[in-house]
Amino acid sequence: MERAISEKYRDVPMFRTALQNYNDKLLELVKNGTIAKNLEELHHLPPSLVSFVLTQVYDRTVAPKVEMLTKYEMGSDNVYGELLHPFITKLLVEQTKMTSDQVFIDLGSGVGNVVLQAALEIGCRSYGCEMMENACNLAEAQEKEFRSRCLLWGVAHGRVHLERGDFRTNAKVLEKLKEADVILVNNKAFTSTLNDALINMFLDLKRGCKIISLKSFVHENKTAINDVANSILDVEHYRYHENWVSWAASEGDYYISTKK
Ligand SMILES: C[S@@+](CC[C@H](N)C(=O)[O-])C[C@H]1O[C@@H](n2cnc3c(N)ncnc32)[C@H](O)[C@@H]1O
Repeated sequence: MERAISEKYRDVPMFRTALQNYNDKLLELVKNGTIAKNLEELHHLPPSLVSFVLTQVYDRTVAPKVEMLTKYEMGSDNVYGELLHPFITKLLVEQTKMTSDQVFIDLGSGVGNVVLQAALEIGCRSYGCEMMENACNLAEAQEKEFRSRCLLWGVAHGRVHLERGDFRTNAKVLEKLKEADVILVNNKAFTSTLNDALINMFLDLKRGCKIISLKSFVHENKTAINDVANSILDVEHYRYHENWVSWAASEGDYYISTKK
């Protein structure tokens, strides 16, 4: 078709024939089910589109006020840091193979980045819970901007639900945990008390539910094994790439546990 409309040829009959061939081929693919099959196998939006939309949202809401996120107590559970887009794509698309009929929950969701990415990239129902007021306010601003941006670009997203408060006691979170297919806990800086409380929350998860964490819930030191975690979780250890987290340029460890 390009050849037919090029300056050199400007050949209308050739263009018509090429268009007819294209339409015939397309119709054949519709009739023999190839297009439906390919759509059925497509479970995520292109990462470049996802990153484009989410960067616009973040730049307009969080970036101008990013210093608000540095107001936490060192050594507390509220140390702030973010997983970046390529890392989240790897986790949700490639490793946990999420689909749009599933449920994602981020425990300690910060400004809501991962919750929004899961809803956009996968189209799944996506929940988050955060207790730091500044982060909650920025998450609310991001959610509003996210809805407008998705409308503007004509992309449909999964349902987004952001809760304020402590995920250990938030009624909505405790209820939704039972439905969760994939849970993220960016617990690198969580205290051992909080990590232990999380293990108890995992008791009621459904079988096969995946928990992504930056610290393992099952200790490698056999003498320090937490019996509960060890008996309810199968843990796989992975390494993330350079520049995949906001707090360090170097690579690092993460874990995907499966509820037995
Ligand atoms: C390292 S940030 C992770 C942000 C986001 N999930 C990500 O990975 O990009 C951890 C967040 O967990 C929050 N957090 C810690 N304990 C919490 C709790 N008990 N309930 C709700 N949020 C909590 C902190 O305030 C912090 O914003």
